[in-house]
Amino acid sequence: MVMAKKHELAFGIDVGGSGIKGAPVDLTTGEFAADRVRIPTPDPSTPAAVGAVLGELVASFSLPDDTPVGLTFPAIVKRGVAHSAANVDPSWIGTDIAAVAREATGRRAVVANDADAAGFAEVAYGAAKHKEGLVMVITLGTGIGSAMIHDGVLIPNAELGHLEIDGFDAESRASNGVREREGWTFEEWAPKLQRYFSHVEFLFSPDLFVVGGGVSKKHAQFLPLLDLKTPIVPAKLRNAAGIVGAAALAARIAV
Ligand code: BGC
Repeated sequence: MVMAKKHELAFGIDVGGSGIKGAPVDLTTGEFAADRVRIPTPDPSTPAAVGAVLGELVASFSLPDDTPVGLTFPAIVKRGVAHSAANVDPSWIGTDIAAVAREATGRRAVVANDADAAGFAEVAYGAAKHKEGLVMVITLGTGIGSAMIHDGVLIPNAELGHLEIDGFDAESRASNGVREREGWTFEEWAPKLQRYFSHVEFLFSPDLFVVGGGVSKKHAQFLPLLDLKTPIVPAKLRNAAGIVGAAALAARIAV
C-alpha cells in the first residue's frame, strides 16, 4: 500500500506592502495547487486588519483540516515575533505574527522573513536545488533581502541589505528601487551591484549566489555585467517564491 506523505499540501501566504497573496502549494512539486488569490494590503496594515485578510484568504479555498499555513513577512522574525517592520504598520513590532495567523485561520502556522522564505523555496525547488555548501539568495526589490542556506539549513534573518558599505546602508545604493527612482540603465546600476556582491562575497565566501526579486526576470541585462568568483544565477520561482517557501517551511515546522 502506498501511504500518502504527511502534509503534501500547505498553504503559503506572502504579506507585502501592497498586496497579500496566498495559494495552496503541492509540496511534491513546489507548484501552486490552485490559482493564487491576491487581496490589497489594508491601510493601515495593523495586526487586526491583516489578520482579517489572512482569514479571508484561507477561507476562499477548500483545504483539508490539517493543512498548515506558512506566512512571509517583510520583517526580522524571531520565533514568530516581528522585530522590525519594513513597509508594514510599525504596530507589528513585538507582535507574535504566527499567533495572529493561527487565530485568524484556525490552523497551525509558521512565519518567516520574506527573503528567507523565497531563499528556502529556491533551495527546495528552484535555482539552488541539490546545491551543497553556502547558498546566498539576494532579492533585489524596493529593498535588498537576503537568505543564507547552508547544506539545506536556513540561517534566518541575515538582513544583508543593511550592510554598511562606503558609509551607506547598502540597499539605499544598490536596490532595484533605487535604480528605478534614479532612472539608471542596467549599465549604470551594475557598478553598485558589483560593489555590493563583491563585498558580500568577500565576507561570506558563498558557493552560489541566486538573484531574486521582480527584476531578476531581466537578469540577462545585468548579471553578465558582474565580475565575481562565485557563480551567480537568476532565481527560478520568481514571484511565486515567497508563497512556495512559506508553504514548504509550514510543512516542516508549523506548530
Ligand atoms: C528588510 C528585510 C526584507 C527586505 C526585502 C529589507 O529592507 O529589512 O527584512 O527581507 O527588505 O523585503
